[in-house]
Amino acid sequence: MEPVLSAAQPSTTPGVTPPAAPEGQFGDFDFIVVSNRLAVDRVVDEHGESAWRRSPGGLVTALAPVMAKADGAWVGWHGAPDETLEPFDESNMRLVPVPLSAEEVELYYEGFSNATLWPLYHDVIASPEFHRTWWDSYRRVNERFAVATASVAAEGATVWVQDYQLQLVPKMLREARPDLKIGFFNHIPFPPLEIYAQLPWRRQVIEGLLGADLIGFQRPSDASNFLRCVRRFKGYTIKSQQVYVPADEATPAYVSRAEAFPISIDTASITELAHRPDVIERSREIRRELGDPQHILLGVDRLDYTKGIGHRLKAYGELLEDGAITVEDAALIQVASPSRERVEQYRLLREDIEGAVGRINGTHDTMKNTAIRYLHHSYPVEEMVALYLAADVMLVTALRDGMNLVAKEYVAARTGNTGMLVLSEFAGAADTLRQAILVNPHDIDGLKAAIVSAISMPKVEAMRRMRLMRRQVVQNDVERWSQAFLNALQSGSPTHGD
Ligand code: F6P
Repeated sequence: MEPVLSAAQPSTTPGVTPPAAPEGQFGDFDFIVVSNRLAVDRVVDEHGESAWRRSPGGLVTALAPVMAKADGAWVGWHGAPDETLEPFDESNMRLVPVPLSAEEVELYYEGFSNATLWPLYHDVIASPEFHRTWWDSYRRVNERFAVATASVAAEGATVWVQDYQLQLVPKMLREARPDLKIGFFNHIPFPPLEIYAQLPWRRQVIEGLLGADLIGFQRPSDASNFLRCVRRFKGYTIKSQQVYVPADEATPAYVSRAEAFPISIDTASITELAHRPDVIERSREIRRELGDPQHILLGVDRLDYTKGIGHRLKAYGELLEDGAITVEDAALIQVASPSRERVEQYRLLREDIEGAVGRINGTHDTMKNTAIRYLHHSYPVEEMVALYLAADVMLVTALRDGMNLVAKEYVAARTGNTGMLVLSEFAGAADTLRQAILVNPHDIDGLKAAIVSAISMPKVEAMRRMRLMRRQVVQNDVERWSQAFLNALQSGSPTHGD
């Protein structure tokens, strides 16, 4: 990779003002998280006033206490194109907004991140597109994130870069600021060498990631896929999980490590909601609204082709055809939250899924009962937990998924140890939630059998399984995950996640 700009030389892109370069060499913050999206959402109150609110996600919840203790800053895009904002303070952290032009949203975010890397890293379920203009934009935007980060990092600060949108940032940072301790975590799968090899910029991306002292992956198989690619495309020496990166003109030799740290959820807050009387009442109301069927099944996904929603609908539709279930006995709630709607593959998927739902409901609905209650919405976490409580069976049928936190949230919410999880073996969560009914979602007959078995499992057996899964999720929450990663980053010695 060509040398990148130093922190004192921000890049210029038409329409976007880069963050100001620092006065001196160092910034003020000892701990910095860098992610494509900032940790806050803009909310508009009833008077039309806009304000920032901490994002509800597990990552933000896990890192907020670390931020408050360590003088933390979060660097990320604030979600609006063509808008430059000054850094501001919110929820005990400094927020450093990185501007993106409308064109960069199209090329870097929708293009290279979500129409090249996303399908490539998810086993080419959809065809990745390779465009040099997208790659150029990805590089430029990664550079802007690196410059913004370098400008706020104190001497010797710890920087934790998140996810596939920012894989070049670790190397850019190491070159600009060799004093930093740099971690990277990949939230999505890392593909096998034979698939990764398609990427025209495969060498540059590996070099970018290797800029980190520690590279975290969801599953051990992701870490070993990555190490195989390092060996093949860089030829570096690898011992156990350590990569010996030789010196080049910009950086002295150092050791980088690649290990698995399976991410988790904020188990305590889900459990607390599951005990709240209003949430419990809402779950009863959901059941009543569906006509109190014997079995409620639930799917909750971003509307993404990796989630196997079509396979799930096919299996469910066939069970109705076969008469194994009826609309009087069972109802499937499918929450499909809107996602990446300007990307072509996502538009096509929406048409497919909504067509399938329409066909199944058209065939099986009665005036009173509906087969599939399809909801193309996002909901607040309280409503999600009410849905988890209302559902006897949770269906997670991803064709490929880094982890799948919905599976873990469902388990966390089932505080009475009832309910059953049907879980794809292609989701990272299958490594730890071994007592779920594990399925290959491509095997429609197997998926149908798993649904029937979940519905009809004897209560004692279902409770035994759920108790074991809950123990897993309670003991390994997102705080433990972030501590394990950050301890390993500081200690510099190999460790193992759960
Ligand atoms: O799983 C990867 C991820 O980037 C998550 O971090 C994020 O919540 C989700 O995909 C949706 O991403 P976005 O809407 O930012 O493209």
